[in-house]
Amino acid sequence: MKYLLIFTVFSFCSVVHVSDALAAGITRAVMLSNSCAACHGTDGKSPGAIPAIHGKSSQFISQSLREFREGKRPATVMGRHASGYTDEEIQLIADYFSGQR
Ligand code: HEC
Repeated sequence: MKYLLIFTVFSFCSVVHVSDALAAGITRAVMLSNSCAACHGTDGKSPGAIPAIHGKSSQFISQSLREFREGKRPATVMGRHASGYTDEEIQLIADYFSGQR
């Protein structure tokens, strides 16, 4: 009975956290895409020399990331950065940035 109560309390807590995150619009796609902000600007809107990536097609972004990852596209930093993502994560990131206007 005691364990059931503890389990119930923990389950409730995790449900609340997930719904808080969703309410704030923080999805897995947003979390993954934040890693690009340091160089490509918030939401991919680069203020400097590094190319802006917001609003580019999902196809362009996902293909670029896969080519960077596989060393098929010349890069200074993107090869190493892209190597950290699975195909599924690349798709989430590409869809996120293509939706930014
Ligand atoms: C450390 C800085 C840095 C980070 C972090 C970074 N990028 Fe890049 N990105 C670059 C640079 C610099 C280039 C130009 C290619 C090169 O030299 O690697 C580039 C190029 C690109 C391009 C090609 C743009 C074009 O118009 O040709 C895409 C797409 C891209 N990055 C997407 C991303 C995504 C998505 C992330 C996050 C998952 C990310 N980058 C994280 C620095 C960065």
